[in-house]
Amino acid sequence: MNSDFLVRQATAGDVPAIFDLLEPYARQGIVLRRTREDILDYIGNFRVALCKGSVCGCVAVRDFGSNLLEVRSLVVAQQFHGQGGGRLLVGFVIDELTARYPSVKWQLFTLTGRPGFFQRLGFRIVSKELFPEKIWTDCSKCAKQHCCDETALLFEPF
Ligand SMILES: CC(C)(COP(=O)(O)OP(=O)(O)OC[C@H]1O[C@@H](n2cnc3c(N)ncnc32)[C@H](O)[C@@H]1OP(=O)(O)O)[C@@H](O)C(=O)NCCC(=O)NCCS
Repeated sequence: MNSDFLVRQATAGDVPAIFDLLEPYARQGIVLRRTREDILDYIGNFRVALCKGSVCGCVAVRDFGSNLLEVRSLVVAQQFHGQGGGRLLVGFVIDELTARYPSVKWQLFTLTGRPGFFQRLGFRIVSKELFPEKIWTDCSKCAKQHCCDETALLFEPF
């Protein structure tokens, strides 16, 4: 793992950097497009990775209630790929949830075109039908809604 990385809660000042990270991947249909306003509205959901003080990655966590949460908007800047930043961001989220729900069973899911990455982090592939709320809210905004090629994965602490 690259010890130059640090992960922290995002702040309003991170909005431009988060937008710049997501936008190229949103254009390729890899992550959902987020406007600057949308990122600001949900800034409390974002965590950012810093490398030598600059934002080089981000992730958001959406809470659906009933201890069901989603990892979304996960991006590491291309020049930092393969250096442990993605693992650190998702690991940070898992550590936060472990601390927040020490004895309650929570579920963290994702819909992704990078299942291999999430499997490396302990997620397992599950049926998309487990997540109707996600399908009916965000999927309706996705260009690929009628030809979805994403895989659903789930992480459970125990
Ligand atoms: C996917 C992404 C976040 C991974 O971040 P990263 O910092 O490059 O990944 P890491 O260096 O932390 O890799 C962690 C582990 O996952 C593996 N891995 C990384 N990307 C992978 C991929 N696409 N498929 C399979 N395994 C992958 C690494 O080999 C590493 O395994 P190891 O620790 O056992 O050696 C990053 O490549 C990215 O931003 N991609 C573009 C946007 C994207 O695809 N986002 C996810 C959509 S939900």
